[in-house]
Amino acid sequence: MCGIFGLITNQDIEIGKIILEGIKRLEYRGYDSCGIVAQHNSKLYVKKDAGKINEIHKRLKLDEFPFGTKLGLAHTRWATHGPPTKINSHPHLDCNEKIAVLHNGILENFFELKEELERKGHIFRSETDTEIFPHLIEEYMKTGIDFKFAVSEAMKRCKGAYGLAICHAEYPDQIIVVRKESPLVIGLEEGKTTYCASDIPAFLPYTRECYILDDNEMAVLAAGYVDFYDIDNLTNPKEKEKQIIQWSIDAAEKGGYKHFMLKEIYEEPSAMRRTLKISKETLQIFARILWGAKNIYITAAGTSYYACLAGKFIITKFLHKYIEAIECSEFQTQLGDALQEDSVIIAVSQSGETVDTIEAIRWAKEKLKNNVKILCITNVVGSSLTRYSDYVIVTQAGPEIGVAATKTYCTQVLTLALIGLEIAKFRKILTKEEIDNYYHALNSTPDIIETFLQENIDLIKDIVKNLDKSHNFFYLARGISIATAREGGLKLKEVACRFIEGYSAAHAKHGPISLVREGFPIIFIAPPDETYERLLGNVMEFKARGGMIISVVVEDDRLITGFSHRTIRIPQPSDKYFSLFSPITFIPALQLLSYYAALKNGLDPDQPLNLAKTVTVH
Ligand code: AGP
Repeated sequence: MCGIFGLITNQDIEIGKIILEGIKRLEYRGYDSCGIVAQHNSKLYVKKDAGKINEIHKRLKLDEFPFGTKLGLAHTRWATHGPPTKINSHPHLDCNEKIAVLHNGILENFFELKEELERKGHIFRSETDTEIFPHLIEEYMKTGIDFKFAVSEAMKRCKGAYGLAICHAEYPDQIIVVRKESPLVIGLEEGKTTYCASDIPAFLPYTRECYILDDNEMAVLAAGYVDFYDIDNLTNPKEKEKQIIQWSIDAAEKGGYKHFMLKEIYEEPSAMRRTLKISKETLQIFARILWGAKNIYITAAGTSYYACLAGKFIITKFLHKYIEAIECSEFQTQLGDALQEDSVIIAVSQSGETVDTIEAIRWAKEKLKNNVKILCITNVVGSSLTRYSDYVIVTQAGPEIGVAATKTYCTQVLTLALIGLEIAKFRKILTKEEIDNYYHALNSTPDIIETFLQENIDLIKDIVKNLDKSHNFFYLARGISIATAREGGLKLKEVACRFIEGYSAAHAKHGPISLVREGFPIIFIAPPDETYERLLGNVMEFKARGGMIISVVVEDDRLITGFSHRTIRIPQPSDKYFSLFSPITFIPALQLLSYYAALKNGLDPDQPLNLAKTVTVH
């Protein structure tokens, strides 16, 4: 995915500075190249290059716009078509350098369109799919139609996913944006300035008034004003509902922390306290639907998928029905004709824009002619996934900018746990005292994490120091903690570039144990649940083969601690109620381990190599 930010204004503001700051807030979406375009005196001024925004800014002074500029756009890229080079960076221009296009997404029929345009004499400069758009719009404008009509005609020819921001040298009063499957939001400072962006944090310091563009819609932005259209009906502007964003501005800034990842780990307690307030009615709707379902599937990608593994374990405990967790990219291939009517699918996605999650849901709806219920858990109001879902819960993590998901994982597991407890309540399978104990444990999770974060940073740094030379690791666990091991493993791979296997401790004896040599680091996730004694056996087996044992245990743990070289203690009581929610309370230790391991290895944890926060391409 890529990031787009732009504005049009009638105010005397520092437009260059605002555009540079805005695009930096979207750098999590891609960071291999960047560019800006300013429209002034019937000319377009472009600066672009490969590299991270700050490096390019040092060379090109991205915030210096011609004096009096009132319209500018910026882009940060995650390469799909063509390597990250200056020429492939956005914006892309038409032959006459009058039309500039910035794109997030993939144009699928670009070969065919490129051939057609080349036959008509268009000269292409880059290897990107994006460059088709300005040439195609140029071609339609040659027929004498107006800018926005030419954009609409061009869009009718395009297949694929796109969020586009477009400006024209001779249209100083307009930015045109269109959306199909790639997010675009509009921010409005009424009568003064209008913003467009791939995500809300880009304009949050200036306005909370926001409009979320739907698929196949166009917005025509003027200074302090915006018109919305269906892409194939430009005669009548349409009404759109305004959203008022409640996030604080601080949430989108680093606020004194060195990295967003660290800040977002520290925000976990507050994110969870907000999520604990999710409406009971919505939780009950989810609980009743699951209880009535014939088949239940839960699907997601990456961290959200590991949240599903933990969540399905908790829900199954109270629902007493099997829930099948399927990675979203395999949803269709694994289920095929086995997907039956009256199924319920829980789709979990931080961004609500992960293309494989959306595709899994769309496929299921199409196949069953809507005879399937989609329950969605996302962190982003109005995201694409919410539009394909019957019921939506929005986790209250606030914006997550770090590419590595941290606080959103905690809120996703928490939400699934809340649904599980609603099921337990109406099924009356537990005594009141047991229910109260589970709620007490769940409501305590923010405090446990808060205390852990206050007391353990030096310990984690010290463990990382001693792990410095290790390139391979195991995170081992049993039962619900396998989800924790896998998510912890994903974090370490992602940000610290270390190879780690998050695995079942029992299953690791069927092969992976052969890797263990003297000093091989093995991190055991060991809450005191029903798997603890067997896990102790696994600890001893791996220790006997020379493994360096680091255990993550509760405060008063003795047994596994006794066999460990190092111990990380989570400040929570040793009982089954708290242990059920250990995927939430144990994960910050592994997130911090990854964070400090990244720093130790000289890596930027906010911008891991080859990654972007949301994968919007197949
Ligand atoms: C998490 O650290 C990763 N960046 C990634 O695995 C992510 O969780 C995955 O791409 C799913 O994203 P989503 O939750 O926005 O759908």
